[in-house]
Amino acid sequence: MTPVADPIYVLEERGRAALVAAFGLSEADADPVVRRSPPDRDADYQANAALALSKKLAMKPREVAEKFVAALHVDDLCEVVEIAGPGFVNFRLRAEALGSLLEDDERLGVRTQPQQTIVIDYSQPNVAKEMHVGHLRSTIIGDALVRIHEFLGHKVVRHNHIGDWGTPFGMLIEHLLDIGETEAAEELSVGDLDSFYKAASAKFQNDPAFADRARLRVVTLQSGDAETLRLWQLLVDESSRYFQSVYDRLGVRLTRSDLIGESFYNPWLDDVAATLEKQGLARVDEGALCVFPEGFTGRDDKPLPLIIRKRDGGYGYQATDLAAIRYRLGDLNAERLIYVVDAGQAQHLSMVFAVAASAGWVRPDQVEHVKFGLVLGPDGQRLRRRVGESVKLGALLDEAVERAAAVVAEKSPDLSGEEASAVARAVGIGAIKYADLSNDRVKDYIFDWDRMLAMEGNTGPYLQYAIARIRSIFRRAEQNADGAIAGEVVITQPAERELALALLSFEEAVVSAAQHLQPHRLCTYLFGLASTFTSFYEHCPVLRADSEEQRASRLKLCDLTARTLELGLSLLGIESPPRM
Ligand code: ARG
Repeated sequence: MTPVADPIYVLEERGRAALVAAFGLSEADADPVVRRSPPDRDADYQANAALALSKKLAMKPREVAEKFVAALHVDDLCEVVEIAGPGFVNFRLRAEALGSLLEDDERLGVRTQPQQTIVIDYSQPNVAKEMHVGHLRSTIIGDALVRIHEFLGHKVVRHNHIGDWGTPFGMLIEHLLDIGETEAAEELSVGDLDSFYKAASAKFQNDPAFADRARLRVVTLQSGDAETLRLWQLLVDESSRYFQSVYDRLGVRLTRSDLIGESFYNPWLDDVAATLEKQGLARVDEGALCVFPEGFTGRDDKPLPLIIRKRDGGYGYQATDLAAIRYRLGDLNAERLIYVVDAGQAQHLSMVFAVAASAGWVRPDQVEHVKFGLVLGPDGQRLRRRVGESVKLGALLDEAVERAAAVVAEKSPDLSGEEASAVARAVGIGAIKYADLSNDRVKDYIFDWDRMLAMEGNTGPYLQYAIARIRSIFRRAEQNADGAIAGEVVITQPAERELALALLSFEEAVVSAAQHLQPHRLCTYLFGLASTFTSFYEHCPVLRADSEEQRASRLKLCDLTARTLELGLSLLGIESPPRM
């Protein structure tokens, strides 16, 4: 069996066994409820089960705690096990055990999980339409979830469900013909998607002849006309080229082969409709084929329809999402589907999930909507550059790197030009990502340059700087880091103990970020670790330690801290420059 690094899991396992033995509980009911103890206590961990179980067992909590402790075998790990207050069980680990539990392997003690195939649907911009900050959030959060799940051993399929089909393409293609292919390609490939889209829709609204052409064009497109498809492909290709340039600058994992947009599902839409009809789930209402999933009502308590086929015979966003579920589970054999989509689409997705479940295409526990809030400017309003116009992502990333360059120049004037610009890129992009990821994703988040680039507080630059600072200790020690440190970790000081305990909680942080699909849990952990390190470094001299043994032990703690921070940031898609 792989060694278990994080003692919380050992205490959980042994605690469970003790509860089963002492009270004859089932494994499932025997949760010892182990938690880290608050920092100012004398305990490292505590088990809170006695309080919850006392009712069930009809015993006083204290009595439960006593019987529990009597059945518990943790002497090898703990120097103190005591009952406190109404029935908390406190644990204090043996210093030797702490030192030997610290894993030095490249996973830093994080075990892999039984493998699942998971489709993560994220980023999802729309062809010939500006990629907005909402797509940026989806891209950043999705990328972190991809990395975390891959690290935990899962097979992750990345799906960039781009909006590349539907009625707007009639007007977009006609506009493309009007301005000429070369001109259109030019505009789209540099990311001038908004003006292209706006020009097309203005003509559609103001020029009836254009509108007629656009409507006809949709029909030719959907009937598979080769020349129309070629023009459509041009729109898709040029837009994707632009999206890819944003992804590359962001350093996210998405590539062209992950583009599986709405159009991909076209061949299955008739069958989706026919199957739902055959199952008696869909019926024609006012000319449209609809499903009315249970529990969804609109104004006046009227049942809300999920429109499968529109009155004109066309299919839309809803049908596509249903077909995607069938494809992902049926053809890709995925076991789990994760949708990183803004909270505004919660109703759409719940209805799609409900219909797919009643059709027997998915179990409700296999689909999850990872919701996120809006991006607000410092004024608390939706982030916009000028009134009514969305912020261009390319310009936003430029600004991040530029601002980071100023911060880096001030903080690290010694870096050479080339290194300084590499660091500025890592810091600027990292700052945007970290600011997004460190907030509870369902909340709206405030885009504030000064705060995200601050060198203090829970920010990307603070963590990157913490790593660089630790690396500089090794340069001064003229010693290579990365596992080259011989000797044992020997814990003598409280600050060393705190640091060791923090390092040991890495696995739990990664696992809980994955389990709750909340990257901010990992951010909170990393920030806590960096702060714990700071106080260790204040209290415990490293290079001028009392003995060789102590120096080696402390260097090892430094190395493990830097590597944990680096690995943690890499799971969030953030680089750590070796020097800053
Ligand atoms: N393209 C859509 C938008 O920009 C988001 C797609 C979300 N994914 C999905 N499978 N519905 O709003």
